[in-house]
Amino acid sequence: MDRRTFLKITATSAAINIASRDTSLAGTNAHAKVIPIADGSAAEDEKYWSLVRDEFPISREVLYFNNGTMGPSPRIVTDRVTQRIIHVDSTGDYGGDYEGIKSAVARVINAKSGDDIAFTHNVSEAISIVSSGIELKAGDEVLLTNQEHAGNAIPWLARKNRDGIAIKFVPLTNEKWEPYSDDEFLQRIKDAITPRTRAISMPHLTCTTGHILPIKRISQLAREHGIWMLADGAHPPGMLLTDVQDLGVHAYASCGHKWLCGPKGIGFLYIAPDFREHVIPTWTGGEADKYWGYDARLDFMTTASKYDFATQNFALFDGLHAAIDYQESIGLDKIEQRVLHLTTMLRNGLKELAPGHFHFLTPPNSMSGLTTIKLEHMDYKEFFNKMWEKRKVRTRVVPEGGLEASRFSVHIYTSEDDVASFLEVAKATLA
Ligand SMILES: Cc1ncc(COP(=O)(O)O)c(C=O)c1O
Repeated sequence: MDRRTFLKITATSAAINIASRDTSLAGTNAHAKVIPIADGSAAEDEKYWSLVRDEFPISREVLYFNNGTMGPSPRIVTDRVTQRIIHVDSTGDYGGDYEGIKSAVARVINAKSGDDIAFTHNVSEAISIVSSGIELKAGDEVLLTNQEHAGNAIPWLARKNRDGIAIKFVPLTNEKWEPYSDDEFLQRIKDAITPRTRAISMPHLTCTTGHILPIKRISQLAREHGIWMLADGAHPPGMLLTDVQDLGVHAYASCGHKWLCGPKGIGFLYIAPDFREHVIPTWTGGEADKYWGYDARLDFMTTASKYDFATQNFALFDGLHAAIDYQESIGLDKIEQRVLHLTTMLRNGLKELAPGHFHFLTPPNSMSGLTTIKLEHMDYKEFFNKMWEKRKVRTRVVPEGGLEASRFSVHIYTSEDDVASFLEVAKATLA
């Protein structure tokens, strides 16, 4: 089976074949769908997933185990971005179907509608909309964990510098790095809440160890206390099935450039209707308004478009649309199954590999595309360098929170052979 028979491309206005790299759709609103014809979407079907792998231009010389930092795009995404840029520059037509793309994002995270989605450039900007837009006075408190990515720490710390709010870091583990159970962690949050607590901003899945936090329960707790709840959702969309309504968060910040494998520099914020009136736009401009005039009146939109403004690079949004179309064509549930299958292989392999050389920091029940280990006898930076030198294995160092650990990620372009090669290199490195 070659790619031509594997992929059938349908579009709303025309049919194209990805293999032909047809650019004739540039500038149309057609959204290509890649439909796997083969009945090969089971998590273990290597033949099927190798055809998916073929769509990713990432070099075969590299064993890329760092999707958690940056998700490479399949060709259909980069083609779409390029086509749109050419279209804009050849016609001057720089706008596009933002609403359609918001609906696609809403589907991925199960938001009620695209009206609840604002576009940003990254996760940090989505978090900053909330951290700088809610009312907070000196002495008010915000709860984070003690294993934040800078993207969920700096926006709140900036608010501390500006307005004198207090930031409390709730620990996720004991001193031996053993993760607290959900119940224990919930209890620590309860203990940290005071009458001055105004917001909780925590990762859905930590970038450090891939710890999946009980966001639904934290949201319930927050709501019981009249506290705003924001989840840093940099990781789940495009990797794990995500349902922001079920999580019950007031806001959820994510991006297209990790697990959705979209263009780089594009993010989004889910912001619930009842929360929008409490989040004042900090940076703003044309498009955010329902009305402005020389009577000096400004009324913002009531949808999340309140936080969008001014000229944007539509090609990136169109690329995100292509990325979502692509993943939906494979099936978001199939993607989750595949990622969990590869992670199970990776973790089982690691367990057998070098007993006594490391221990897992990822809680065993936090199954996702991320796995983190802490080495006993080797510096984590040395391990990172050696893995690269030996076979160009790209991993990630985890300095956050003083963890000094090593993180590995797998995604839909990872093969079982890649996992086996990774394990061989890791074994040789630790020997
Ligand atoms: C949990 C988490 N939050 C926030 C970020 C920041 O993402 P961005 O660069 O899109 O702002 C990252 C990036 O790795 C992350 O892992």
